[in-house]
Amino acid sequence: MEEYSLPTRIYSGEDSLTKLEDIKNSRIMLVCDAFLPNSDTLKKIKGHIDSSNKCETFADVVPDPPLDKIMVGVQKFMEFMPTIMIGIGGGSALDTGKGIRFFGEKMAKYKIEKYIAIPTTSGTGSEVTQHAVISDPKNHKKIPLMEDYLRPDCALLDPRLVMTAPKSVTAYSGMDVLTHALESLVAKDANVFTDALAEKVVDVITNNLVECYRHGDNLDARKIVHEASNIAGVAFSNAGLGICHSIAHQVGANFHVPHGLANTMLLPYVIEYNSSNCADALHKYAIAAKKAGIATPSISDRLAVKRLIAKIREMNRQMNCPMSLQAFGVDPKEAVTLTDTIVENAKKDGTFPGNPVTPSDEDLAKVYQAIIR
Ligand SMILES: NC(=O)c1ccc[n+]([C@@H]2O[C@H](COP(=O)([O-])OP(=O)(O)OC[C@H]3O[C@@H](n4cnc5c(N)ncnc54)[C@H](O)[C@@H]3O)[C@@H](O)[C@H]2O)c1
Ligand SMILES: [Fe+2]
Repeated sequence: MEEYSLPTRIYSGEDSLTKLEDIKNSRIMLVCDAFLPNSDTLKKIKGHIDSSNKCETFADVVPDPPLDKIMVGVQKFMEFMPTIMIGIGGGSALDTGKGIRFFGEKMAKYKIEKYIAIPTTSGTGSEVTQHAVISDPKNHKKIPLMEDYLRPDCALLDPRLVMTAPKSVTAYSGMDVLTHALESLVAKDANVFTDALAEKVVDVITNNLVECYRHGDNLDARKIVHEASNIAGVAFSNAGLGICHSIAHQVGANFHVPHGLANTMLLPYVIEYNSSNCADALHKYAIAAKKAGIATPSISDRLAVKRLIAKIREMNRQMNCPMSLQAFGVDPKEAVTLTDTIVENAKKDGTFPGNPVTPSDEDLAKVYQAIIR
């Protein structure tokens, strides 16, 4: 039996924030990205909140949110007892909000009525996923919470909110979207529903992301990439991910490499590995590359996948993404020393079972070590 569901109600466009005006007489806890307080963006958002509501803002959000920061938010949750939560920001802020909800509801022993997510990066798709990625900095681990009820009830996609993102955030979070698409496309639980979404995302990102990087104020490009980010979230929350994310989570936890950058360093090697070891994956990557116009329809699957890998490398170059841990500033010797730990923890990652091929420890080590120098 195939399973596919999309519980989140999605509104996209420059007027999507007006949906906030429907909320009346509620206790609203806003969980905001650290760049938002005193910004025009937050003023714009608050301008749509009716004065009959009581609002409390929590903005102590850091990238790759650690558990101790989330517990500070939980304290605020218990004091304020919100009925509605609104997460606003990049994946880290949306996940902080989900983490506060997860622990807050358990500790205060009640359920909120609604979680609304307003993403300001085109990246994680957290506004539609059941995941929240929480960091454990002491043990250099990322712990994904995965609960169906953590999927936000509503996502508001306003492309103007993404325009203030620094170029590197546009590049890294956008390559995270492409990784979500290419991993969910070949993942074990992929089906025709999720394939349709993933293939479209490969097309949109390979044809529009570099334009967003170069001209961040191009509203049309921003809107379609923001929507693709959301669509990729729907695809992977149904189909699963794979070893690119399993290893990227370890690379992020150990070396503080931004999530999307870790993915895009690894992605060419993961595609190479999967397509060499799984005929179905080879064919699916090739179809996606052909549909996106990266490869002509008549060439072989193997050649089409080569073109896809070359396209990813070209995009990384065009957006100045460091392509190895060494180029990012990590000591290669330290990175080599950590190989066994990274392999062990990658196998325990929640995304690992989704990969189309189950790699040996040597295979995983090879993929990881390919990005060191
Ligand atoms: N929940 C999920 O389904 C899921 C999926 C993939 C990744 N993640 C997690 O999400 C996190 C990464 O999220 P991300 O890539 O969105 O980056 P991020 O949320 O960590 O943000 C990166 C930086 O950009 C800033 N920023 C965000 N939007 C901005 C804007 N519009 N203008 C100016 N600055 C802005 C943030 O303040 C931060 O400093 C990681 O912790 C990753 O593990 C979650
Ligand atoms: Fe991701």
